[in-house]
Amino acid sequence: MNRKKITALVLAAAMVMPMGAAAVHADGSAVEAIKAAGEVVMTTNAEFEPFEYKDGEETVGIDCEIAEKIAEKLGVKLKIDDIDFDSLIPSLLAGKADFIAAGMTATDERRKNVDFSDNYFNASQTIIVKTDSDIAAREDLNGKVVGVQQGTTGDIYVTNEDGSGDITVKEVKRYHKGMDAVSDLMTGRLDAVVIDDFPARKLVEKNPDKIKTLDEALTEETYAIAVPQGSDLVDVINEVIKELNESGEMDEIVSKYITGEEEADSTAE
Ligand code: ARG
Repeated sequence: MNRKKITALVLAAAMVMPMGAAAVHADGSAVEAIKAAGEVVMTTNAEFEPFEYKDGEETVGIDCEIAEKIAEKLGVKLKIDDIDFDSLIPSLLAGKADFIAAGMTATDERRKNVDFSDNYFNASQTIIVKTDSDIAAREDLNGKVVGVQQGTTGDIYVTNEDGSGDITVKEVKRYHKGMDAVSDLMTGRLDAVVIDDFPARKLVEKNPDKIKTLDEALTEETYAIAVPQGSDLVDVINEVIKELNESGEMDEIVSKYITGEEEADSTAE
């Protein structure tokens, strides 16, 4: 092939390369591609108050505010796509987003497919039961019907597929929305729901006379933002997390959504 032909081929290839979301710049830099597109795309699952939830048409919450800071740092607009939680990693791998901010726990299993930023929040799995339930501790989940959000660490804990846990429930029911699991709990179709601690408290706040959380923490987890493996965007995200922690803005953001008694020192510094 002569040089002219090669140049023509390269140009043709460049024309069909995806532009905008998750395009990778000629030098392999996600950051450069995002700046060129003028937009950074975050995916989340907005069924997880206080981290991300719908306020009318808008998706709001702690993760959205952190994402806004990331976009600001990049000097671009933020676009938020709301999809099912168990589609987040496949969608990132398919190049449909630049990062996932979804109260996502950084697990070794997920690290096989994505890179995680530094941790920004400490969390745990919590049990929600009806106020008159006889379930008072973790062991009481044995033999019970338990609802979880599909594909979450709560699902993994309760399902106990690898047999590493000591709890064997009767049945795991999986939902796309934590709220739907809570509805089934209240109508008696479930004995308990296992979900992250702060979302659990938000769900209970809406029905305090019917349901409650148990104090026992089932797991210790940390939330981080996921990017495609090798993406240089992770450096920008880590810088933003560091700045938000050092300036006290992270605590300010968190206390906008988590107030009073429930406020805990959960920001991971
Ligand atoms: N922390 C849990 C996990 O990573 C649950 C996250 C659910 N997040 C959401 N936006 N629905 O599996």
